[in-house]
Amino acid sequence: MNQVERIGVSLDKKLLSMFDKLIAKQGYQSRSEAIRDFIRQQLSGERLTNPKAKAVGAVFLVYDHDSTKLMQKLTDLQHSHILQTISSMHIHLDEHDCLEVIVLRGQVGEINKMADSLLSMKGVKFGRTNLLATEPTSDW
Ligand code: NI
Ligand code: NI
Repeated sequence: MNQVERIGVSLDKKLLSMFDKLIAKQGYQSRSEAIRDFIRQQLSGERLTNPKAKAVGAVFLVYDHDSTKLMQKLTDLQHSHILQTISSMHIHLDEHDCLEVIVLRGQVGEINKMADSLLSMKGVKFGRTNLLATEPTSDW
């Protein structure tokens, strides 16, 4: 266990009350736990601004499965990026639409590049990418 230091924080009463409401809504049991997580969140977000930082990312995309060419292209792109592609999941949303979740690992820049290639394919209706920095967090 790392050394723990106690700090005192001065806060405007109103701000503190809003903070307490927020963390209660989110299910936090204590301010300390919430503050620790908020700091980690900021640190992780800051790491994502570095294209060389290590990360995992999930690309969510919705497309019409009647476009068989697109399905082939999606698969091809994953096979040609075998080191980055960890896993993928396919969900049939309705008669036509499918949701594909593709999980990628690598450097932030690589992940974003591949995510952009996936999302800009003809036939992809919409989607989004979610990234999480994975650089050692054992010391946080
Ligand atoms: Ni395959
Ligand atoms: Ni499907």
